[in-house]
Amino acid sequence: MRVYTSKAELSAFISKESTTTFSLGFVPTMGALHSGHLSLVKAALAENTLVVVSIFVNPTQFDNPNDLNTYPRTLIEDVQLLETLSKTMILVYAPTVEDVYGSQMNAEKFDFGGLEFQMEGKFRTGHFDGVGTIVKRLFEIVKPNNAYFGEKDFQQLQIIKKMVGLTKLSVNIIGCPIERESNGLAMSSRNSRLSDEEKEIAALIYKTLQSVKEKFEFENHTDISTWVTTQFFNHHLFELEYFQISDTENLAPIQQKNETKTYRAFIAVFAGDVRLIDNIALN
Ligand code: PAJ
Repeated sequence: MRVYTSKAELSAFISKESTTTFSLGFVPTMGALHSGHLSLVKAALAENTLVVVSIFVNPTQFDNPNDLNTYPRTLIEDVQLLETLSKTMILVYAPTVEDVYGSQMNAEKFDFGGLEFQMEGKFRTGHFDGVGTIVKRLFEIVKPNNAYFGEKDFQQLQIIKKMVGLTKLSVNIIGCPIERESNGLAMSSRNSRLSDEEKEIAALIYKTLQSVKEKFEFENHTDISTWVTTQFFNHHLFELEYFQISDTENLAPIQQKNETKTYRAFIAVFAGDVRLIDNIALN
C-alpha cells in the first residue's frame, strides 16, 4: 500500500492516475482505525476509482492537551487494516504537522451559522474551528470528488456540509451510519482506553438513546431529559456531560415538537477521563 507523508508526492501520484472518468473518494481520519472507519472506506471504495484515507491527529481541534497526548497513534496497524480492504485502490496520507500547516499551526475562524455553538461546541472551545481548518486544508490538498463522514459525529457532519457551502469547494459530502460494538456501544478510537468493565457498562449509553427514541413518540422532551439525567445520576463509572434533543437541520434544542421536522438525540458521557459521544435519529 502507498503511504505518503508529503502532500506534493500524494498530489503527483493522484494527477498521474486521474483520467476523465476518474473519481476520487476521501476518508479523513485521526487513525486508530476500527470498523467504524472501515465502513466509510468501504462506502468510498464502492463509489470511486481511488480512495485516499488521511491519518492525522489534528492538534488544532483538541481543547484538552491530555486528550491530544493520549490519543492512540497506531499507523502500522492502521495500514494493515486498510490492506485487508484493498492494497491498490487505497492511498494513505499520513502527514506531519508541518506538511499540513507549514510553520503556522493556527485554526481559521469560521461562522457556521450557529451550528458551532451547540453541544460539542459548548463543551469543546474552538473544536469546530480546528475541524473546519483541517478538513478544508485536506480537501484543498486531496481535491476529492466525494468525501465520507460518519453520523457518529453528526454535528461535525453538518458543520462540514456548511463549510463546503461557505467555501464553495466542489466536493460531495456523504454521511454514513454509526457502526456499533455488539453491545451497542458506538465504535470509537477512544474505546481502546476503556477497561473491559467500562466497555460493558457503556452499553447503557446506547440503551438510553434507544429508550429516548421510544419515549419521544409520546413523552414531553423536558421529561425525557430529566429521565436521562436520572439514568446517569451518581453512576459509579459514568458522568453525563450533556443530553440534548435537537432539530436535525440547525441542531438547536427542541422547543416544541413540530411534526414537519426531524429530530436527533445527542449525548456526551465521561468514563473517567475518556469522553464518549453518541446520537440517534428520533423520527
Ligand atoms: P475520527 O474520529 O478518526 O473519525 C474519522 C471519521 O470516522 C469521522 O467521519 C467519524 O464520524 C467516523 N467514525 C468514527 N467512528 C465511527 C463509527 N462508530 N461509525 C461510523 N463512523 C465513524 O472525526 C475525526 O476523526 C476528525 O475530526 C477529522 C474529521 C478526521 C478531522 O480531523
